[in-house]
Amino acid sequence: MTDKTKTKDSDLMEKIVSLCKRRGFVYPSSEIYGGFAGIYDFGPMGVELENNIKAHWWKWMVHKRQDILGLDSSIFMNPKIWEASGHTKGFSDPLAECKECNNRIRVDKVLEEIGIKADEKMSEENINKLFDEHKKEIKCPKCGKQNFTKAKKFNLLVKSNLGDFTESGTAPSYLRGETCQGIYVNVKNVLDSNHMKLPFGIAQVGKAFRNEIAPRQFLFRTREFEQMEMQYLTKPDQEMIEYEKLREYRWKAILSLGIKEENLKWHKHDNLVFYAKEAYDIEYNYPWGFDEMEGIHARGTYDLTVHSEGSGKDLSYLDSETNEKFIPHIIESSGGVGRLFFALMCEAYTEDIMGDETRVFLKFKPNIAPVKVAVFPLLKNKPDLVKKAKEVFEMLNEEIYPIMFDDNGNVGKRYRRQDEIGTPFCVTVDFDTIEKDDTVTVRDRDTGTQERIAVKELVSYLKSKLV
Ligand code: GAP
Repeated sequence: MTDKTKTKDSDLMEKIVSLCKRRGFVYPSSEIYGGFAGIYDFGPMGVELENNIKAHWWKWMVHKRQDILGLDSSIFMNPKIWEASGHTKGFSDPLAECKECNNRIRVDKVLEEIGIKADEKMSEENINKLFDEHKKEIKCPKCGKQNFTKAKKFNLLVKSNLGDFTESGTAPSYLRGETCQGIYVNVKNVLDSNHMKLPFGIAQVGKAFRNEIAPRQFLFRTREFEQMEMQYLTKPDQEMIEYEKLREYRWKAILSLGIKEENLKWHKHDNLVFYAKEAYDIEYNYPWGFDEMEGIHARGTYDLTVHSEGSGKDLSYLDSETNEKFIPHIIESSGGVGRLFFALMCEAYTEDIMGDETRVFLKFKPNIAPVKVAVFPLLKNKPDLVKKAKEVFEMLNEEIYPIMFDDNGNVGKRYRRQDEIGTPFCVTVDFDTIEKDDTVTVRDRDTGTQERIAVKELVSYLKSKLV
């Protein structure tokens, strides 16, 4: 058996999208109605992987840290929050429309694609200058023509009529565009109820919504997604020291998921928003190359200042030792569950030759695999084998989860199915189990090798491997 491909082959994206659908990881949303652009559903395997990603993040960002507390704020909030934060005015991407087919493009992204440095923070004037200079090199991805409108800023906040009973819809509320605003507006509550001292952080995981102009690349840029955000409040002179610590910590946390260091890279932002001190992205080597997976930002006093002003409530902190009062500085780590999910799928996707066939398997670290163990009777038409396999399944199911019972098709086919969802171990009950020595075979996903293990030792054997 040769472990052949860990390549970034050109059709890796297609292979992953297809496996995600085939094996119940990710489905296009509303598929039977023709789909809904930029939105996806997570199937039975996908939701397990998602939950493992979020649990891993929570463990690293809350449970392992005495200085960070968790929060679950609402998706809908007082619309004044989005005014104070600047989102109703400034949360926008440059959009242009093809005059021939009305397709919309995100101008900074199409410029980047032809190698021109641009980003969404550029003024309308500057991005239009670049767009004009390079229009001849840009074709509409839909109709291939080269006849575009000027770029204009398009606001990404998703509006709703929740709580708006005006006929004309003039008092919209918003689905949150990022989860961290719910953290900023709860800083005072968390401080008062938990008596935290600086530096300390607040973490949360939850849905965010953006009216992305051009959702693309599968889970990479979607209109509905989940964020895992942690906002860390510091004294003024601690901000950059804590920032460096946070960068190091997040890097370590991501590596512990089983992502290879060679597939990660830091990207420092040159073009910062006016209040930011520093911003880095952790990029992953996606099928199209390195791209942002998570952002780590030093944001100064901006967030708590604007919410102090917007709400009229003083969000400054009184240092009980020095008696000094000041607005805490904030550093944040902000990652998308979908982008990490996609990175883990790319990282795990492996092809090798087993027997005479090409086999596809997902080489997840056992602790993040959607299913930990599958239990099979060797033959489904032998009642004694099926009965014993069910007993072994019930015994394991008390201690390890999720696990799966499978007696569908021949054993080879069952192994392939489990390989494709990344199940690290398959336990098979055979004739030796019931006639000879009460042992089962345990097959290792990555090597395909099998060991005989006594049923009475199975739980501790598997637990020691599922780390
Ligand atoms: N609070 C800071 C913030 O939201 P961001 O760079 O806009 O910063 C942070 O987003 C992270 O959220 C990104 O690094 C990415 O992982 C994820 N993210 C942002 N927009 C996304 C989208 N449209 N689809 C999927 N994930 C997205």
